[in-house]
Amino acid sequence: MSNAHSGLRVALIGTGYMGKSHALAWSNVGRVFNDVPHPRLELLIEANDQLAEGRAKELGFARWSSDWRSAVSDPSVDIVSIASPTWMHKDMAIAALKAGKHVWCEKPMSLSLSDAYEMRDAAREAKTVALLGYNYIQNPMIRLAAKYVADGKLGRITSVRSEMDEDFMADPDSPFSWVSEPFAGSALQEFAVHPLSLLNVLVGLPSRVLGDESKPYAQRKTAQGELRDVGNCDFGSMFLRYPNGAAGAIITNRSAWGRKGRLVVQIFGDKGTLYFDQERLNELQVYTTEQPPEEQGFKTILSGPHHDPYNKFLPAPGHGLGFNELKLIECREVISAVGGQKAHVIDFEKGVQIEEVVYAAIDSVASNKWSDVSHR
Ligand SMILES: NC(=O)c1ccc[n+]([C@@H]2O[C@H](COP(=O)([O-])OP(=O)(O)OC[C@H]3O[C@@H](n4cnc5c(N)ncnc54)[C@H](O)[C@@H]3O)[C@@H](O)[C@H]2O)c1
Repeated sequence: MSNAHSGLRVALIGTGYMGKSHALAWSNVGRVFNDVPHPRLELLIEANDQLAEGRAKELGFARWSSDWRSAVSDPSVDIVSIASPTWMHKDMAIAALKAGKHVWCEKPMSLSLSDAYEMRDAAREAKTVALLGYNYIQNPMIRLAAKYVADGKLGRITSVRSEMDEDFMADPDSPFSWVSEPFAGSALQEFAVHPLSLLNVLVGLPSRVLGDESKPYAQRKTAQGELRDVGNCDFGSMFLRYPNGAAGAIITNRSAWGRKGRLVVQIFGDKGTLYFDQERLNELQVYTTEQPPEEQGFKTILSGPHHDPYNKFLPAPGHGLGFNELKLIECREVISAVGGQKAHVIDFEKGVQIEEVVYAAIDSVASNKWSDVSHR
């Protein structure tokens, strides 16, 4: 940190969907959490000068650049938020860590396990923190779900299930874009890490997987009307096995018409069930066998000030938090981690373990049999 009395000096790379979310979080974290010093929005980096200058003005950054390499080594920067496309993460994160900066990088770490290992190794060598953007674990309702599991209210966990569905690739007539390039991530690479991040905080990660992938549309037309082969899979799934025998499944689909931001997790135990859906992120459904059979049924718990840190945003229950507020809670945790405090975050070590599950599933698709998740 720049000094004990002033906030972190932030550089942000990329200001698209997630970059804007990072910018809003950095701008407001000191207003929502009054125990953290206001960060200084020092430097914004975008793909070209015009975009960088415009976005810096809009988002309130003091300076801008279109050269990420000089930016990550800028002496006036303490932490680099990386919200660029996934295939750029590795070089940016490693350069920032080598320059002595803290890093908060969007998920997934990269698009290959070897790149993720390189990032993890750079983090091990650095004296700074290296964290990933896994905002969904910050939801107070997910923290409540984790407490249900930890307190044994579901009993012994017997199986888990998670689905992540969106429909931005559902239209067969939408033109070929970079999303379908072979170098861009598949649904398993870009999506499955989110269900795994939730399972990680609820029940842990599986030790064996059986994967499957498919292309709902094998070809798409370019803007010029030529047919091109789709280079990665918009559907991917995996069966899971835990060391204690518990079973599970993850299904990811970017071509699921009508599903806009569905991220469902179900945890089944021998005394009850939990159900959460990110499309209804202020609700947790719980079923337990505590009541007599004629009174049993799912109850829906609505988020409110009892669910920390909801009360930092709103005094009234039932009014709801949103996606950007989860990012802001994550930003608070990032600041805690930088300050050496205990923090609820997924760092590069745990991020690699999540990606080891994904790549075990991808290996299993190729070998057509179950893969053990190996850790390196
Ligand atoms: N945590 C989440 O819930 C979540 C959700 C969506 C995406 N993501 C992740 O966030 C990352 C970014 O995805 P997105 O959806 O925001 O993408 P996006 O395309 O909306 O934004 C990417 C931004 O990076 C900028 N950029 C490209 N090249 C650059 C360069 N050389 N220097 C600086 N900036 C550059 C682009 O101009 C753009 O503004 C991906 O890794 C993605 O997987 C995370």
